[in-house]
Amino acid sequence: MVEAVSIPVIANGDIATAADARRALELSGAAGVMIGRAAQGKPWLPAAIERALKHGGEVVPPPRARLLQSLLALYDDTLDVYDGKLGIRIARKHIAWMIDAELGADARELRKRICMLEDPHLVREALIQLFDDGLDRAAA
Ligand SMILES: Cc1cc2nc3c(=O)[nH]c(=O)nc-3n(C[C@H](O)[C@H](O)[C@H](O)COP(=O)(O)O)c2cc1C
Repeated sequence: MVEAVSIPVIANGDIATAADARRALELSGAAGVMIGRAAQGKPWLPAAIERALKHGGEVVPPPRARLLQSLLALYDDTLDVYDGKLGIRIARKHIAWMIDAELGADARELRKRICMLEDPHLVREALIQLFDDGLDRAAA
């Protein structure tokens, strides 16, 4: 494909680590890679993989407090862009993905409850509490 067309080709599919990305670039000769499912709930992952490719080293997740901060910012931005109930519903999938990615099966029940809340203030409070509890568990 890269040889057949004159536009940049992006490789995609099952890329979740810096090693996957490196391999896909080497095998395909593509101009870049795209990361889909592996970045669900991990919006920091593509930039972290890019850093690892450029400078070496490991892919290190940001601290949980930073993840909470970016999730809350994303939540507010989503509600700004999409009015009313639509925004609340669209934001739910990102909330669910990040809870799954960061807190896993332990938080499944709370995730379900948060994703049923209609009041954005309650959603924010519940996320702060959930991630703080997660922090306590991680420190224990
Ligand atoms: C939630 C989600 C939404 C997607 N939406 C689109 C889309 O709108 N258009 C599209 O061409 N591909 C879409 N895809 C496919 C991805 O772009 C990508 O090709 C596919 O997920 C394989 O890459 P991955 O293994 O990194 O996930 C979507 C994938 C996911 C998981």
